[in-house]
Amino acid sequence: MTRSDFPSDFTWGTATAAYQIEGAVHADGRGPSIWDTFSHTPGKVRGGDTGDVACDHYHRYLEDIRLMKELGVNAYRFSVAWPRILPEGRGLPNPKGLGFYDRLVDALLAQGLTPWITLYHWDLPQALEDQGGWPARQTAYAFAEYAGLLSRHLGDRVKHWITLNEPWCSAHLGYLAGVHAPGQQDLGLAVRASHHLLLAHGLAVPLIRQNAPGAQVGITLNLSPAHPASPDPADVAAARRFDGFQNRWYLEPLFGLGYPQDMLALYGEVAPPVRSGDLETIATPTDFLGVNYYTRTVVRNSTLGPYRFQAVQVGEERTAMDWEVYPEGLAELLLRLSREYRPKALYITENGAAYPDEPGPSGEVHDPQRIRYLERHLAQSLEALREGAPLKGYFVWSLLDNFEWAEGYSRRFGLVYVDYATQQRRLKASGRWFRDFLREAVVRP
Ligand code: IFM
Repeated sequence: MTRSDFPSDFTWGTATAAYQIEGAVHADGRGPSIWDTFSHTPGKVRGGDTGDVACDHYHRYLEDIRLMKELGVNAYRFSVAWPRILPEGRGLPNPKGLGFYDRLVDALLAQGLTPWITLYHWDLPQALEDQGGWPARQTAYAFAEYAGLLSRHLGDRVKHWITLNEPWCSAHLGYLAGVHAPGQQDLGLAVRASHHLLLAHGLAVPLIRQNAPGAQVGITLNLSPAHPASPDPADVAAARRFDGFQNRWYLEPLFGLGYPQDMLALYGEVAPPVRSGDLETIATPTDFLGVNYYTRTVVRNSTLGPYRFQAVQVGEERTAMDWEVYPEGLAELLLRLSREYRPKALYITENGAAYPDEPGPSGEVHDPQRIRYLERHLAQSLEALREGAPLKGYFVWSLLDNFEWAEGYSRRFGLVYVDYATQQRRLKASGRWFRDFLREAVVRP
């Protein structure tokens, strides 16, 4: 497999998110986000880590753009920190916050890198959480205002927009599991949050289109094929519930099918407060679906929790996140999406793996497992493309090692190693491999 097996106009990128890399949380009028509050709450993040400094990308973005040039990618997916633009979540924009993204976008364009903006990658302004957060309908309208404002400001230069990153995580990890900000544990709140996130997306799409003529607009979901642990009908039904909870709950309303009936029945009295017109808004046609793929999920029936399934550990090969390496799941997923939902285009907006990387005596970071992971997932992407999936691009997660949410800095996903004490960056072997793959210069033994 070489780069030229993929279409010549294929998008090749790396991805990051604001809170995970920017640091500078008090700079230039940025307001607090729910992740500032959460990470500063003792016991919430491994080792007490916070995003206060992270990779200091806010000050080192030019160096990071140089690294991307060295990799030879043609696109960069990053998120905008809502609390830099609107420190209180709504109201008048902060010119210095806008200024940072002006500089970033202009520097990317000057280097021939296409900016892909994610509007929301989990850093809700704390002021909005204090008014009810995503379980409150008004947060969807606040998001639409923010999306309108930012696309008015950058729409002349940015033509690729992702409304939300992984709304499942915002809703379920944030409001049910409580392992992400804001750390709530209430099924009703999580279901309401999921509806308002989808509504926020649907409200934002036409505003972005209006403000950024010719833009491609989409949403990114984290999707995982659900496999039953055995052919037992109870396990098969549990896998279906998992699929409903993680995949179909988002896909079906986005593609005009409404919320899945089996999940509405499961939610019963905590089903979301859908108002007239909401489903039409959510189903506003998009230009692409962004897919974040890391692993499949194998489940068995259980009596535990509202969804009554238990994830089962299978497979010998696992990453530092303890996620099974299962590349076949990527082709399976892309083909299913193509068949069942017929998206205009698919982009893999995240794929990658964490391993316990450390520099060797010569300073080199040797990460053969990540190279294998990426190679095998690219091969599956190509397979899906050949079988007809409208796949148009692939972004590695991540450009840099960064703040991995509840795991703090203990999990390294980067193609570039970051020494957090010195902020020194160096390409890992996987970074050099990706660079050579993009240059068609991979040398085979
Ligand atoms: O680091 C995250 C990212 O923010 C969202 N998708 C999954 C990645 C790895 O866990």
